[in-house]
Amino acid sequence: PSEHALRYLKAHLRNVPDFPKPGILFKDITPLLADPRALHITLDLLAQRFVGEHVDVVVGVESRGFIFGGALSARLNAGFVPVRKPGKLPAATDRVAYALEYGTAELEMHKGSIRPGARVLIVDDLLATGGTASAAAELARKQGGEVAGFAFVVELDFLGGRALLAERAGDAAPVFSIVHFA
Ligand code: PRP
Ligand code: MG
Repeated sequence: PSEHALRYLKAHLRNVPDFPKPGILFKDITPLLADPRALHITLDLLAQRFVGEHVDVVVGVESRGFIFGGALSARLNAGFVPVRKPGKLPAATDRVAYALEYGTAELEMHKGSIRPGARVLIVDDLLATGGTASAAAELARKQGGEVAGFAFVVELDFLGGRALLAERAGDAAPVFSIVHFA
């Protein structure tokens, strides 16, 4: 991305101190969503990176991954499959547990969402520790999908999510984030 585009996008991310817990500086993407130009630039950059990767289906993670994943799936002429927090999907699901800072969380995907061999792009707003995206990839692989890549708007480099994704993947699925915070 150009310096100009990056500066514009960063100017539309809001830092919220002490959310959701004291000591955490939350990166709020809602100003970027509300600005037509920032949203357009964001979707263009994500689509440009993955348009040549033959993506059959975008997997978006509840809740903010739905926004970017849904829009991106339309740009890529791909399908969209939601990964949700437990108990939200109505039909039979596959479920995976993943580690949080304290304890564990779970994510679900409807069984039979992904055709075996389909190329899957995992999309979320933000890559932090990588636990969420890694769980989404595990669900996709469980159904026979091939992870074609990971796309994020923001990456917090210092939390090491990229290394976790590489370690879990055991292959070279590209990880692309537009805005990095070191
Ligand atoms: C945030 C963010 C990512 C995830 C990244 O979601 O939207 O999904 O955390 O963290 P990780 O890389 O350490 O797993 P959150 O769980 O806060 O839920 P939300 O999107 O529904 O607000
Ligand atoms: Mg999230």
